[in-house]
Amino acid sequence: MTVAFMLNGRSVTVNVEPERRLVDILREDFELTRTKAGCYAGDCGACTVLLNGALAVSCMLPAFALRGASVLTIDGFSRTRDYGDILRSFNEAGYAPCGYCAQGRILSVHVLLEKHAEPSEEQILSGLAGIGCQCADYSTLLRAVSLAASARKSRRRARR
Ligand code: FES
Ligand code: FES
Repeated sequence: MTVAFMLNGRSVTVNVEPERRLVDILREDFELTRTKAGCYAGDCGACTVLLNGALAVSCMLPAFALRGASVLTIDGFSRTRDYGDILRSFNEAGYAPCGYCAQGRILSVHVLLEKHAEPSEEQILSGLAGIGCQCADYSTLLRAVSLAASARKSRRRARR
């Protein structure tokens, strides 16, 4: 089947089996390999993308569900200033998720901060729950997100 959707801000069309998973389409057809394939079961979060602005695990998204959708991957998001804020905050806090978790964590923090400019601990933990990694210690994670929240607020305030 032919499916047209928006990918990182541009319109694309793919000719695929209806059940083919988005994570494979991204990695194999578009060479967007920063989106990782891990468990293929919706558990690890390595394949996280934004689908119409919401977090989604791309291993659970069949091609037929993409028609008319807007997909933003870490490659697309990394062209934004919000990405830079989050990355710098992770570095400053000493939070260094591995190559499998980083994309999902970054996108999760972005979505969290769009919903809550000053997230509570509870909101942070629930916002990041989709990435099945227990490596980071709790306080480092909280500091990383709180630095990212401050960076975003100051930059956006300065723009007004
Ligand atoms: S590969 Fe998609 S959640 Fe693990
Ligand atoms: S498994 Fe990647 S940082 Fe924990």
